[in-house]
Amino acid sequence: MSKTMPALDLSPLSVKDLLCTSALPTADIQRIFATAAALKAGRTVHTEVLRHKRLAMIFEKDSLRTRFTFDIGMQDMGGSAVFMDHRDARLGSRESVKDVAKNLERWVHCIVARTFKHKALEELAQHAQIPVINGLSDFVHPCQALSDFFTLTEKWGSVRGRTLTYVGDGNNTCHALIHTAVKLGAHIRVCSPEGYEPNSRVVNEAMRVALETGAEVTILNDPDAAAEGADAIYTDVWASMGQEDEIEERNGVFAAYQVDEEMMARAKPGALFMHCLPAHRGQEVTQEVMDGAQSVVYDIAENRLHVQKAIMALLVRD
Ligand code: CP
Ligand code: NVA
Repeated sequence: MSKTMPALDLSPLSVKDLLCTSALPTADIQRIFATAAALKAGRTVHTEVLRHKRLAMIFEKDSLRTRFTFDIGMQDMGGSAVFMDHRDARLGSRESVKDVAKNLERWVHCIVARTFKHKALEELAQHAQIPVINGLSDFVHPCQALSDFFTLTEKWGSVRGRTLTYVGDGNNTCHALIHTAVKLGAHIRVCSPEGYEPNSRVVNEAMRVALETGAEVTILNDPDAAAEGADAIYTDVWASMGQEDEIEERNGVFAAYQVDEEMMARAKPGALFMHCLPAHRGQEVTQEVMDGAQSVVYDIAENRLHVQKAIMALLVRD
């Protein structure tokens, strides 16, 4: 860390909130990546960046990574965080989402919320004058996808023209990867069992964006074809939080979609293995692949910290 390095450009992003990467201009994504890289390299006096700023964390679901990285990120930059867990955080049940927003904006400078309904996040953002960050909703997981693509950018220099294959449920993580990939000109293949494909509106919108950026979006059901020649293979749990009663059924449906060494061998030599975590070893991914040399799962987890610090630094206003 050095005070003699040039100051970071912390001018605000073009958006007030980060709810979905589909609403984030590519220039903003690039600024987040550049700021994350600078913060990671220690090229700023961190404790000045958000000195005395406060973050409210409202989590309707469990979390390890998102909770720790936002809290530690705030502390690193001189601020603090207050956490409300799922016993108290039922947005819209004790009082309206609007009233939650109108209260919180009087006490804190930013909100990160992990919700079931994406609509609850949109309502929070609509009524709060302070930035609202999506820490995962049933629809998307934007901070995850930004950390994923930041990690790939670190590994490869650029993601443009590279192919990321996502194998598994067409869920929140998958939607955010699709949104983000096409903005950055990366090709995205999604391979799910029939009936578990990503939301068709997400896919159609991504195909429109892809026409402008040179990306390709491919949706398929055959894992062998999906893995063929990929630069990276990504998977997530077969049943997301809130789908616990479907676990047994999904374990059967997804059995042929496990990422194992055979699948990795179909990808390019040295292809990366990615997972947002938590992982269910022996289900969506084998122990060997999780712990193998191609796995970058903990690099991604580390980068959640740097990327979210950048997001907060660029969203929170004085
Ligand atoms: N990947 C991710 O968001 O992890 P947590 O659910 O532990 O926050
Ligand atoms: N799809 C998973 C991601 C967890 C980070 C879930 O929603 O549970």
